[in-house]
Amino acid sequence: IGGVLFGYDSGVINGVLAMTPFQQTFQWKNSAMKGFIVSSLQLGCFLGSLGAGYFCEKFGRKRSVLGGASLFVIGGALQASAHGIPQLIVSRIIAGFAVGILSMGVPLYLSEVAPAKIRGTLVSMQQLAITLGILIAFWIDYGTLNISGNNSWRVPFGIQVGIAGIMAIGMIFLPESPRWLMDNNLEERAEANINRLRNERAIASGETAAEVSEIRESIAFECEVGSGKWSELFVNGMWRRTLIGVLIQIFQQLTGINAVMYYASSILAQAGFDSQSTALLATAGSGIVNVVFTFPGLYFIDRAGRRPLLLSGAAIMTVGMVILGVLIAVYGPEFSNTAAPYGCLVMMYIFTAGFAFSWGPIGWVYPSEIYPLRIRSKAIALTTASNWLFNFAVSQLVPVLMEAIDWGLYIIFAAFGLIMLIWVYFYVPETKGKTLEEIDLMFGSRAGGRAPAPLSSTEKTNDTAVIGVVQEKV
Ligand code: BGC
Repeated sequence: IGGVLFGYDSGVINGVLAMTPFQQTFQWKNSAMKGFIVSSLQLGCFLGSLGAGYFCEKFGRKRSVLGGASLFVIGGALQASAHGIPQLIVSRIIAGFAVGILSMGVPLYLSEVAPAKIRGTLVSMQQLAITLGILIAFWIDYGTLNISGNNSWRVPFGIQVGIAGIMAIGMIFLPESPRWLMDNNLEERAEANINRLRNERAIASGETAAEVSEIRESIAFECEVGSGKWSELFVNGMWRRTLIGVLIQIFQQLTGINAVMYYASSILAQAGFDSQSTALLATAGSGIVNVVFTFPGLYFIDRAGRRPLLLSGAAIMTVGMVILGVLIAVYGPEFSNTAAPYGCLVMMYIFTAGFAFSWGPIGWVYPSEIYPLRIRSKAIALTTASNWLFNFAVSQLVPVLMEAIDWGLYIIFAAFGLIMLIWVYFYVPETKGKTLEEIDLMFGSRAGGRAPAPLSSTEKTNDTAVIGVVQEKV
């Protein structure tokens, strides 16, 4: 539900902006104000995700997520009842703050309660939920477009209040993360929660007991080696992880996905579609492609692993963007070739599919699993905030660049795709199937110690070898 709120709230404004009663009520004076009505949400998300580091550490994962959902009820209600631009903007910052907490707290919580085997799939469910949220918002906007008066936009804003309410109530019944409990010396509750989270077979076979002692040992070890302060994110043995987490999130935005999610109809207009309704339906199409292609991501993330998906996704997105740019450069702006606009549409869908099974989910999965417990909430707060900051920047810049450099915009995104491909190939190790504690070891968990040497090609492909080699080093 956290993911649905994330997607719904970012998507809903798209259709709402086009509604006449909304325009009449708020009467913004210029496009900068219009832009800020949209991006005040992302500003709130940025602040919320930074704050979430503190909340998740101090109050626990569960209470922070519950707090985020409750705050969203307030932000959503204020948006739905807004009477002027100040209320609208403040309410979007509040709702954004809540989404920021959820976008950080939900993957963190999921990664800590999930068994290693299905952790990737489970955290990726958040991405599936985001894509569904975007799609639901689009169709609800479409459905309320013709309601007369202000209800046409109050209803789509109001629906989110109900969704957040369900989440807040549901969260009361979920168990707190055993890792957070253990870290706060609440061992008995931690053990009870692990047993509640695993099935009877795991309990009978001693798997849960092993998990409990692994967490216990790793916490004891961590107390000896690290401070758990913000500065620890940049010490030897840690800064490389910090950099990977931050870059994976920044690159997720530099793919250009939100150029498609927020501005698909402008892209299609640039690609020669002149009818508004075709452009609208084509936009809905990219929402559907986004949802459908998240499924192969869920399936393969814990089977093929993170690296193959990141590499193939970056390659597909690069190809899609290059061809899109070239088609517009060659056939635009007149588009006398009637097939070319459809070529552009197909490229936009191929690009979206390439994102949906790879960088979409893994952008959230990877940072949630690479940091040791003592600094996990701070680190994920930082990586998530980087994502929102670049989301904000890209969505502000896209319309400007579209006008200034036309098809050049897509070539820039393609260039980022290529850089991502090379970067993942050389610098991003596989985390599939390992417990969070094993991953910590793989990265050379000794804070203040030596940074691990760059991975050799055998290490990159052979999980056991990686763990073996690093264990030896530690
Ligand atoms: C990104 C969002 C994007 C969405 C599209 C998420 O992973 O963080 O910025 O809008 O995917 O599905």
